[in-house]
Amino acid sequence: MVRAEDGPGVDHISSSGRDQVTIDAAIQRYYSADFDEGSRLTTRTTAGKIEFLRTRELIERQLEPGRKLHIADIGGGTGVHATWLAEAGHLVRLLDPVPDQVERATRVGTFQAVVGDARHLPWPDDHFDLTLILGPLYHLASAQDRHLALAEAVRVTRPGGVLFAAAIPRFVAFGAAWLGEEPPSPLPAALAKLLEAGSFQFDHVAFPGAHFHTAEELITELATAGLTDITCEGVEGPAGPALEVRGTHDDDLLDPALTIARRVGPIPGVRDLSNHLLAWGRVPPLDRPI
Ligand SMILES: C[S@@+](CC[C@H](N)C(=O)[O-])C[C@H]1O[C@@H](n2cnc3c(N)ncnc32)[C@H](O)[C@@H]1O
Repeated sequence: MVRAEDGPGVDHISSSGRDQVTIDAAIQRYYSADFDEGSRLTTRTTAGKIEFLRTRELIERQLEPGRKLHIADIGGGTGVHATWLAEAGHLVRLLDPVPDQVERATRVGTFQAVVGDARHLPWPDDHFDLTLILGPLYHLASAQDRHLALAEAVRVTRPGGVLFAAAIPRFVAFGAAWLGEEPPSPLPAALAKLLEAGSFQFDHVAFPGAHFHTAEELITELATAGLTDITCEGVEGPAGPALEVRGTHDDDLLDPALTIARRVGPIPGVRDLSNHLLAWGRVPPLDRPI
């Protein structure tokens, strides 16, 4: 495992304010002690498996068969996506702020993993053909920090390269807050704030989420970071939230849910009913005006 502070000119995990400091500490606790991120997309629930399969197929559509790419996996956790990408022959580098997760990713042995923060990447400009930022955006509370993370992801991606960004829709976060074991507090104000502005401050929910998007907001954030040709789809489709609440692994539901997700994933309005949004766009080639 490489630590970010081992690399030249790289900071330790940084934060942009008091709230984010608290959230960052909660992220460390959650992913190293409270939750097994390594099983979330593989064995935990049908919803997780659909998220994995759909995310993978949407990424694979952008890969040219036979071409080996340099790929960055920012907020890559234990390396679930890095693993299949490395198996396909790509040169993958993962970054995540949680040392336990980076250690697990390193043990896979087929890609490099480093402890670090999406807001200060330890990599040179224009280095990667494909960049994934699947996680950090819903853990960063301020628009400024999310912009910093996306600007860094664009910086390390070569002109003409593709960037994928994941977000969690507000409506799904609303359901999770509403359905928690204890009622959210203060009830209407906090829930309205979540739906109006995406901010999330519910102590009764273990997940250290910081900001929840609408699809339009995610597209705007990618465009503001300089990406062009942006597409946004719902990942799991409208069955996703119900499957997450069900919380079991039921393979009979996999195919029907996937069929619905593929069919309605791109539809504005409907895409916000998925557990996750995935948006992707291109870093403008040099010969094209930004
Ligand atoms: C739900 S997990 C997603 C993991 C994986 N990318 C995936 O798609 O399954 C969110 C990840 O974002 C990471 N993360 C949170 N804040 C981050 C930050 N500021 N910079 C980079 N990664 C961050 C967490 O440590 C966690 O591994």
